Amino acid sequence: MDLRLFKNIVILTGAGISAESGIRTFRDQNGLWEEHRIEDVATPEAFAQNPALVQRFYNLRRAQLKDPNLQPNAAHKALAQLEEIWEGNFLLVTQNVDNLHRRAGSKNLLHMHGRLDRIFCQFCDEKVDWTEDLLTQHPCPSCGRLGMRPDIVWFGEMPYHMEEIYAALDKADYFISIGTSGQVYPAAGFVQLAWKAKKIEINMKDTGISAAFDSHLVGPATVEVPRFIQNFLTN
Ligand code: OAD
Repeated sequence: MDLRLFKNIVILTGAGISAESGIRTFRDQNGLWEEHRIEDVATPEAFAQNPALVQRFYNLRRAQLKDPNLQPNAAHKALAQLEEIWEGNFLLVTQNVDNLHRRAGSKNLLHMHGRLDRIFCQFCDEKVDWTEDLLTQHPCPSCGRLGMRPDIVWFGEMPYHMEEIYAALDKADYFISIGTSGQVYPAAGFVQLAWKAKKIEINMKDTGISAAFDSHLVGPATVEVPRFIQNFLTN
C-alpha cells in the first residue's frame, strides 16, 4: 500500500471553482463587487440599515441555486472523487456559499463563509435550511421573532469552523488552494499556516499570494483540477 495515501490533505476553494458552472466571482472583471459595494450588502451594519436590500442581494444568489442549468463542474466532481479514494485525512474548506461541492458529493466539507441555502435567527440562533426568498417579515420558526438573516459570514464577522481548520492546516501534508484571489483573510493566510505541507495553487492567473506556494498551475479549474488530481494519484 502506498503510504502517500495516508497523508493529510487540506483543500481551500474560492469563487473561481464555481465560475465555470455559471456563478459570478467577486473580484474578476464583471465580478459581483463591481456592481455592489461590500459595505452595502455584506456587513452586519448594512443589514441593520437596509435589511431589504441585503435580503434581495442574497435572494438573487439563492434563487440561482435552483436554476437547472447550474450544475457542479468537473473540478467539483474531481475533488469529490479524490476524497472518496483518499485514505488519509481529507478536509475541503470552501469560501463559497453555493451548494456545488455538496451536490458533487464532497462530504468532509466546511463552509467557512456560511451557506446560501440556510438562514438563522439573530435572536435565538436557530438555523433553518432555506431555498426560497427571505423577506424581512419572516418570523423565526423557533422563537417567532423577526430576526431571520442569511447564514452568510459578513465582513467584520468571524468565519465558521476556524479551530477545526487551523488544526487541519497544522497537520497538513498537502495544501491545495483553488480559484481564490487570496485577498480575504483569514483564508488568504492559510498557506502560511500549512507549515509542513507541499503547497499548490490552481488559478486562472497569478494571485497576490502565489509566491507562497511551491507550485502554481495556471488555467481553468475544470481542466487543471482533474488533471492535477490524476497526476497526483499516479505519480
Ligand atoms: P474572488 O472573486 O476574489 O477571486 C476569484 C479567483 O478565482 C480569482 O483569483 C480568479 O483569477 C480565479 N478564477 C476565476 N475563474 C476561474 C476559473 N475558471 N478557474 C480557476 N480560477 C478562476 O473570490 P474569492 O477569492 O473566493 O466573501 O473571494 C473570497 C471572499 O471574498 C468570498 O468568499 C466572499 C468575497 O467577498 C464574503 O462575501 C464574506
